[in-house]
Amino acid sequence: MSEPKLKEHVFLVGFMGAGKSSVARRIARLCGVTSLDMDTYIERAQGKAIRDIFAAGGEGAFRAIETETLLDLASRPEPLIVSCGGGIVTIPENCRIMNDHGTVVHLAVDADEAASRISNKATRPLFNDIESARELCAARMPLYEDVADFTVKTAGKSVSLIARELIDRLTSEGILR
Ligand code: S3P
Repeated sequence: MSEPKLKEHVFLVGFMGAGKSSVARRIARLCGVTSLDMDTYIERAQGKAIRDIFAAGGEGAFRAIETETLLDLASRPEPLIVSCGGGIVTIPENCRIMNDHGTVVHLAVDADEAASRISNKATRPLFNDIESARELCAARMPLYEDVADFTVKTAGKSVSLIARELIDRLTSEGILR
């Protein structure tokens, strides 16, 4: 069997609207690796939209499902590019799981740029008004930086450019070949 193109899982973290899902999909298409979006995976597995999971059980119920899902995906033998929900870093166990099972990349964005990228904020129960989004983003920034092996700045960049930069970095680090 030929060597896998990805050496280990790559977890994309960052605030809502950072472009994690689009970048993961683009890299998968360009490099022939498998990407997986955690929120989409959770919605399919639960048969419910994220906002309905929040509405039914609150953030705590969602976070429990998120950790269970992360552990399941991280334990898979085939290396994946996983785009994670923006709040994954709020649970220390999630950070440990990601650090133990692969490379973590922070796609950095600020709340104002994120707001301009998110077309349907109703699908994000934790993206309310811009003031609280700025606060949440600032509070999480150290968590993203702590968990990440490296950061890619996304301000003013297209999905193609971010994907290209990330592919170059992963290749130079020997994680992608
Ligand atoms: C969340 C981000 C969302 C989703 C959920 C909670 C957060 O994912 O997981 O609404 O806490 O920031 P995206 O970052 O993909 O929007």
